[in-house]
Amino acid sequence: MKYSFRRGLLGISALVFLNLSFLAAPGLSQNAKTQKVKGPWMDANLTPDERADLVLKQMTIDEKIQLLHGFGMPQDEPVTLLNAASNRGVGYVAGIERLGIPGIDMSDAAYGVRASGSNGRYSTALPANVAAAASWDTEAAFEYGALIGRELRAQGYNMSLGGGVDITREPRNGRTFEYLGEDPVLAGTLVARLIAGTQSQHVIGDIKHYAFNDQESGRSSVDVRISKRTARETDLLAFEIGVTQGHPAAVMCSYNRVNGDFACENKYLLNEVLKKDWQFPGFVLSDWGGTHSDAKASAAGLDNEEPGDFFYGERFKAAVQAGRIPEAELDEHVHRILRSEFAAGIVDFPRQRSVVDPLAGLEVARKIEEGGIVLLKNDRAALPLDAGTIHTIAVIGAHADVGMISGGGSAQVDPPGGNAISAPGEGATHWQEEIWFPTSPLKAIQARAPHAVVTYDPGTDANAAAAAAKGADVAIVFAYEWESEGMDLPNLSLPLHQDDLIAQVAAANPHTVVVLETGSPVTMPWVDAPSAILEAWFAGSDGANALGNILFGSVNPSGKLPNTFPKSEADLPHPTLVKPPLASQRFSGPVSPVQRAEGLPPFQVEYDEGLKVGYKWYDAEKKAVLFPFGYGLSYTSYGYSGLTVTQGKTVEATFTVTNTGDRAGAETAEVYASMPSAAAEPPKRLVGWSKVKLDAGEKKTVTVEIDPKYLSIFDEEKDGWILVPGEYTILVGGSSQDLPLRATFIVK
Ligand code: BGC
Repeated sequence: MKYSFRRGLLGISALVFLNLSFLAAPGLSQNAKTQKVKGPWMDANLTPDERADLVLKQMTIDEKIQLLHGFGMPQDEPVTLLNAASNRGVGYVAGIERLGIPGIDMSDAAYGVRASGSNGRYSTALPANVAAAASWDTEAAFEYGALIGRELRAQGYNMSLGGGVDITREPRNGRTFEYLGEDPVLAGTLVARLIAGTQSQHVIGDIKHYAFNDQESGRSSVDVRISKRTARETDLLAFEIGVTQGHPAAVMCSYNRVNGDFACENKYLLNEVLKKDWQFPGFVLSDWGGTHSDAKASAAGLDNEEPGDFFYGERFKAAVQAGRIPEAELDEHVHRILRSEFAAGIVDFPRQRSVVDPLAGLEVARKIEEGGIVLLKNDRAALPLDAGTIHTIAVIGAHADVGMISGGGSAQVDPPGGNAISAPGEGATHWQEEIWFPTSPLKAIQARAPHAVVTYDPGTDANAAAAAAKGADVAIVFAYEWESEGMDLPNLSLPLHQDDLIAQVAAANPHTVVVLETGSPVTMPWVDAPSAILEAWFAGSDGANALGNILFGSVNPSGKLPNTFPKSEADLPHPTLVKPPLASQRFSGPVSPVQRAEGLPPFQVEYDEGLKVGYKWYDAEKKAVLFPFGYGLSYTSYGYSGLTVTQGKTVEATFTVTNTGDRAGAETAEVYASMPSAAAEPPKRLVGWSKVKLDAGEKKTVTVEIDPKYLSIFDEEKDGWILVPGEYTILVGGSSQDLPLRATFIVK
């Protein structure tokens, strides 16, 4: 379900809101007052749960209901005194001033704080989440989240809507860039660090979209059919790790149905798995318009409706008063919201607006991008470029003269000065507009090769581009594929005839470097032609400098693919994306309460590939791929030796990684396990890794501890995780398809 503002309507109500919000000094005046309130719940020595209970005792039913829902979005009417106090983010839960409970001011913040331009603020755009996943760097993931937390606070928010971790089982998903790849252990571990980083800034962190929002086509009507075992070992495992290790204060349930019920009223997902099994103490909020009932959703475990109060306002109150919803259930929702406010620190550390530090942001963004760029091919050491010997460089395509593409939808961060490829604007962006950040690869390249002649050709005419490339010492051809929430990619091919462009440029110049700016894997019919290929993803605010440092070797590439790049769509588990029938796409005309409750007519997607998601599919089906999961080259080389596996409380893999080349670098050493055949699992699964920094010639011995759960399977009958007896093989190396070390151990 979408709201009109997304399509750029800034109506009269928005203007009214703007004025009022100015008068009301958004959110902060309220905070200032809330701090003065004295009550036993203000004692920070008590636990968040104790404090929540003390507040709860003081609350009227209306105050309780007030916490159960949002007050609309900035452009929505009516403007009330309560929502006028918001910070103009995408969601706002009004606080209880008399009890010192602040409002919850939410902003989307997948790779940076959204909609800053229209609010006259500045935000850093970090590289897309998938780029952070490609770094396999847990510290970088924490920094990623912490930067988002800092900038949210500086802008006056106290809740982040980020933490996307739906597994990439459908690489054409238009939100692949917002997620952390196809492996649940990698994605879950990184999202946990990201959330911890955000919450370290006293901002409520969120994990989303729970669960199985794995495609955007028909996302509000699709009914995902999946077995319990598959669910628990794939997408839900990523959430489980994210929730139990990252401790987000909030979980956002998704638009889709799962095995018949909407995710936001799905008892299995919310109450049984999330709240009971994983012991999640925080609150569940619905995705925007993803609530479909009062009593059913409440009983299933939905705590908060966003962005409005269609079900969780007056209707909810009436249902409680009529006994249709038990009062204890209402109290439980309120308790969870309150305890999250205390746990995240938004009561004890009220928001204090400050100025975002753009230089610090650029530094974090650049470093994360440097660690996430993946070197896919490097024949005859075509890279790094040597500025001392190169006289002419032909830069081609993808607006590389002015900027780099970013991911769209609710993740969109506004570029300072507006879209880099348009005339200067105010900086506000519009829903599903392709946005280019003003980070110019052309300038970054010229700065690193000051004596070379660097030319630019837009790449719109492949013949002209090939002619421009022909005489140059090196041709660098940029290709991109934009993606966004609310749509899926039609296929895995580069759009806009860029395959042809690359093929022609590479045919004209043997020293051609391809730079890809994509969120999803792409097919490469031209893969043999260029001498080098880099995947730069959506590179963020300082992407060009990160790329320049990689191209010219001041940074050694260390990224590894978090998603398999298949040879062709025909090799995917679902070669054709299941699209909704027309009737399931959108209601025409006003939505009645019945329609709202029932939702769009469902269509089913059967995840019958089962456990074989991502590389597990290609392994099991013995399909050759273009570039495997976990793959990425470096300007140096690494050797692996001496694996030993010990079994104590946990299983530990100890081995040595050696930098066998002549340049310092960082190698992600990946650890996989093959299970006994009785486990009926795909050939192997990632169970851990370590990113090791090594000087030229240096060796380090590393121990990777393996969580027993990562060696277990989910037993549906026992409704729990079990270790299957038998022989396990631990495999170690630099990619899922290059695992030189192996050792076995027995589970009795
Ligand atoms: C998206 C969420 C987002 C929310 C608020 C929804 O359409 O799916 O990821 O947080 O809108 O903008």
